[in-house]
Amino acid sequence: MDELKKDFPILNSSNVAYLDSGATTQKPQAVIDAVDKYYKTQNANPHRGAYSLSIEATRVYEEGREKIAQFISSETSSQIIFTKNASEALNLIAYSYGLENLKKDDEVVLSIMEHHSNLVPWQFVTKKTNSKLKYMYINENFELSDEEIYSKITDNTKIVGITHVSNVTGTINDVEKIIKYAHKKGAIVVLDASQSIPHMKIDVQKLDADFVVFSGHKMLSPLGIGVLYGKKNILENMNPFLMGGDMIEYVYEQETTFAPLPSKFEAGTQNVGGVVGLCAAIDYIEMVGYENIQKHEKEVVNYAINKLKELDYIKLYITPNESNHSAVVSFNIIGVHPHDVASILDANGVCVRSGNHCAQPLMRYLGIDSTCRASFYLYNTKEDVDKLVDSIQKAYKMFEKYLSK
Ligand code: ALA
Repeated sequence: MDELKKDFPILNSSNVAYLDSGATTQKPQAVIDAVDKYYKTQNANPHRGAYSLSIEATRVYEEGREKIAQFISSETSSQIIFTKNASEALNLIAYSYGLENLKKDDEVVLSIMEHHSNLVPWQFVTKKTNSKLKYMYINENFELSDEEIYSKITDNTKIVGITHVSNVTGTINDVEKIIKYAHKKGAIVVLDASQSIPHMKIDVQKLDADFVVFSGHKMLSPLGIGVLYGKKNILENMNPFLMGGDMIEYVYEQETTFAPLPSKFEAGTQNVGGVVGLCAAIDYIEMVGYENIQKHEKEVVNYAINKLKELDYIKLYITPNESNHSAVVSFNIIGVHPHDVASILDANGVCVRSGNHCAQPLMRYLGIDSTCRASFYLYNTKEDVDKLVDSIQKAYKMFEKYLSK
């Protein structure tokens, strides 16, 4: 697996330890080549031209939809809606499903781990509909206990929003259990798979989630392409989110009828190049194999955790249950601001994210403002971890004299 790094031009040319794949992954040459080929030989506006090039752009776009449907085991490809990212997909659900279906005193239940994208839209729609927004909180292991799940999801719950993997703590939530219980209570579930699908197989039928969203750019594809999967009967009964070209059937001066799925939710010219890149990213992931990705990541991430645990000035924000932990390691040097740590790491060629990671309610719940976050992917190696640990030690040495013992 260590030789995979060679497939990523930016990692070869810069020699940095890139540990911010939770924010966005680097792109392999195969993805760059596929996008390059699309723009050099296939580009036109899809669905809008009777000429060969437009038909070719339509073909690659719709074949992409088929490929993604197969990748996540969607019942049909018409349930795959392209968006610009997971955030847009989540807003679509909140506006088109939430605003229409929530009534006074209904409940929306989220985990406190949610990214702002699966939280702020729900604040907006619950306020608009006079419904209630409730949270499932994590325990001292950064996990959702059964008790918390079963006490917060009630007969009044209409929507449950849950991240599959926390972008801060790396906790893998038991979403199958949550989905089963939510359905028992008559609620639908919105699953944010942005941090899970780069690392693990998603089978939407097996999960039985009502909506699943993810961003391509966190799984090797270009920026600007995201996916919304929804159950067919739910999508069919929803109003469009964005209105404009190609999502209509007939437009009169005062009225419009809408196109069937998936076009109903895809207004305006779509990101065909992004879909091409996402398909090449899927090919790459399937070529390596999820099993190999997970095995390799486990090795590198556990190596990192063990090394970091040796430093008594580091606080880690991860579950001790290894099987519930993905490839994200949040940490702080106790007493030093994470932005200072990240700047020193950067000066030593190590890229980590610092800040609240778009999860301010979680930070507040944990009683902190921010963390440093090292997030790993298939191209990371133990050498990257050594570089990280060396630079953390350097950072600590710079601040040691100012820290009270
Ligand atoms: N959601 C991305 C992250 O966690 C940007 O960094």
